[in-house]
Amino acid sequence: MTSLDWSDALDTVDWHELSELYRLAPLGIKPPEHLRKVYGHSLYRCFVRDGGKLVGAGRALADGGDCSYLCDIAVLPSHQGTGLGKQIVERLVALSKGYRKIILYAVPGKEPFYRKAGFRRMTTAMALFEDQAQAFERGYLRED
Ligand SMILES: CC(C)(COP(=O)(O)OP(=O)(O)OC[C@H]1O[C@@H](n2cnc3c(N)ncnc32)[C@H](O)[C@@H]1OP(=O)(O)O)[C@@H](O)C(=O)NCCC(=O)NCCS
Repeated sequence: MTSLDWSDALDTVDWHELSELYRLAPLGIKPPEHLRKVYGHSLYRCFVRDGGKLVGAGRALADGGDCSYLCDIAVLPSHQGTGLGKQIVERLVALSKGYRKIILYAVPGKEPFYRKAGFRRMTTAMALFEDQAQAFERGYLRED
C-alpha cells in the first residue's frame, strides 16, 4: 500500500465515489445525495485515499461533549485486513476524546472488530428504525 491521505474535508468528496465504496465494502446502498446530507451534519468525518482513490471512510455524529455516535465505517475490499478500519475507528475515537460516551452498533457479526477497539455491549440500548420489521429480519433488534 502506498502512503494514505487522510482528510475530513467535505468539499473534495466525490459523493458518487463514496456511495460506490459502501456498495462494494459492502455496507449497503447509500445514495450520493443522502451521504452528502448526513456527512454534512456530522461533526467528525474521515476520508482515506490511496493514490487519490477513496479506500476508507467513516463519520461520527457528535454534539461537542456528551455523545459521539460512530457510523458508516467501511473499507474497500482491496484494503480490508490491513489495519485501515482499525485506524479509522481510532481516529474517530480520538476526535471524540473527552466525550461522556462514544456509541455505535455493529453489523451483526462485526462486533469482534469493535470489541478489539474497546467497545462493549450496552445492556439497555434500544432503537426505532424507519423499517422496524426489516431491522428485526437483519438481526439489529430483538423483541425482549
Ligand atoms: C469491518 C471493517 C470496517 C474492518 O476494517 P478492516 O480494515 O478490514 O479491519 P482491520 O484490518 O483494521 O482489523 C482490525 C482488527 O479487527 C479484526 N477484524 C476485522 N474485521 C473483523 C471481523 N469481521 N470479525 C472479527 N475481527 C475482525 C482484525 O483481525 C484486526 O485484528 P488485530 O488488530 O488483532 O490484527 C471492514 O472489513 C469493512 O468495511 N467491512 C464491510 C463494511 C462493514 O461491515 N463495516 C462495519 C459496519 S459495523
